[in-house]
Amino acid sequence: MNEITKKATKPVKSIAVLTSGGDAPGMNACLRAVVRSALKHGLEVFFVNDGYRGLVEGDIHPVIDRNFVKDIINRGGTIIQSGRLPEFAKPEIQKKAIQQLKRRNIDSLVAIGGDGTYRGLLALSKLGVKCIGLPATIDNDIASTDYTIGFDTCLNTICDCVDKIRDTSSSHQRCSLIEVMGRHCGDLAVFAGIAEGVEAVITYDYKIPEDEFMNDLRELEKKKKHHAIVLVSENLLDIHELAKKVERETGFECKAEVLGRLQRGGKPSAFDRILASKLGNHAIETLLAGRSCRVCGVIHNVVEDIDIDEALAMPRDRKENLTKLLDILR
Ligand code: F6P
Repeated sequence: MNEITKKATKPVKSIAVLTSGGDAPGMNACLRAVVRSALKHGLEVFFVNDGYRGLVEGDIHPVIDRNFVKDIINRGGTIIQSGRLPEFAKPEIQKKAIQQLKRRNIDSLVAIGGDGTYRGLLALSKLGVKCIGLPATIDNDIASTDYTIGFDTCLNTICDCVDKIRDTSSSHQRCSLIEVMGRHCGDLAVFAGIAEGVEAVITYDYKIPEDEFMNDLRELEKKKKHHAIVLVSENLLDIHELAKKVERETGFECKAEVLGRLQRGGKPSAFDRILASKLGNHAIETLLAGRSCRVCGVIHNVVEDIDIDEALAMPRDRKENLTKLLDILR
């Protein structure tokens, strides 16, 4: 191959992009960056509706031009829908996805989602597709990036809700137990706990023994504190039961509040839009540099990409520095 031919040959020609897992604010901004960056480099671009389901069923469509992603950088949710497909772990289902891609001459796939999304990409990579994963989930439970797309927006939403609950909690001198999302990761509770200066945080990694917890609440009266905010990670305990127990054991009137899916909605923050834009562009640059089976992330403020299996094997930072800070300040 002579020099001119070498320069003209790109390692990828056409990409498909999908969003998968729980939707996260900033997914649209990320989709926009992937599409615009790919088009700018002359790649053919397809979008897949509804995550891996759309890939398997061939709900795959060409992106005609850059206007497909206009006016979405500020929109929450994902315009191409998202979902979870546990059956994608089966080889026969993965093969169907491969057939759909081959039928359209698509050689690469960029998937925006969480660790379940990454596992799907790992399987497809082994079957010959050039894959890139981008971290988008409110949970911040992906070890290969400092922050996931959507986490900052969700954190701010939680803080907004806690501010409001605090108004009524303090007016009535109550204890409010507030359940936040995060699946099995306590980052939302811990970060919000610091930002809100709460009395206690309970997560998988950061638990106070129950008698100590009850005692701390009893002691608040002595500190002349007549109300309390406690953040609890979801999937850990029944906060309605805990609220009853607090009332029984401390005499504090206690209300349980589950914030639920409102935490996933809303306009992405400026931080999430910028993070999403950087990562979306980096996905295309990674493919054009000839690297695949990679996930992108921001590590110590630098955008990087690493192998998917390495990313999946990385231990999560349990944020001990932050939980120590919580202990000092609460
Ligand atoms: O992964 C994002 C997340 O919002 C988790 O925090 C939560 O456990 C889960 O998704 C809820 O998913 P669904 O809305 O499908 O029940």
